[in-house]
Amino acid sequence: MSVNRFITLEGGEGAGKSTCLEFVRDFFVRRGLALVVTREPGGTPLAEEIRALLLARRDEVMAPDAELLLMFAARAQHMSQVIQPSLARGEFVLCDRFTDATYAYQGYGRHLSLQTIAALEQLVQGTLRPGLTLLLDLPVQEGLARVEARAEKDRFESEQESFFERVRAGYRARAQAEPRRFRVIDAGRPLEHVQASIARALEDWLQEQGL
Ligand code: TMP
Repeated sequence: MSVNRFITLEGGEGAGKSTCLEFVRDFFVRRGLALVVTREPGGTPLAEEIRALLLARRDEVMAPDAELLLMFAARAQHMSQVIQPSLARGEFVLCDRFTDATYAYQGYGRHLSLQTIAALEQLVQGTLRPGLTLLLDLPVQEGLARVEARAEKDRFESEQESFFERVRAGYRARAQAEPRRFRVIDAGRPLEHVQASIARALEDWLQEQGL
């Protein structure tokens, strides 16, 4: 069986994704493994423009279906320009959020149909799914308290606490449904513990892949 080198990092607001992303990058550099680090929505100039549309706060309310389709529009561009070519070259790809975020935010958060999301996933990704997903899990209030300290909130960060509770429940449900792909990391512990858990998860996974 060929190795799936596509890794995603997921988590609610304020879970510490950015710090962990740097940690994973260093982990791969230390082992001399080629890794492309990217993010969603975004990762190409066009997809970053779509990201700006998605995150901007404006008077006009964005229709949930428009939000969903923009997420997948950005993803289609990112897939064709970055993810597929990198994987085809045999590089690891680490993506800061991917389709699990769509299930969690647009599906569970906005109550959009999970079947519709699955259909769009199939359309845009074909059979491509992450081989490993690290989920940084944190009680919603703790995450929001961290985000509170940031200067300006984007359109998602401005949502109600109940929205983020649904997002967290969505992520956890997905992790439970696919325990082989997901590693759930308790992001509420001190940073060195979080990083040690991530390192262990990566080592185990690489070993499973025979790498
Ligand atoms: P970030 O906080 O990781 O930079 O992501 C930007 C926001 O986009 C974040 O609040 C989660 C949201 N998002 C979705 O709602 N659906 C998606 O499919 C993705 C990738 C992100």
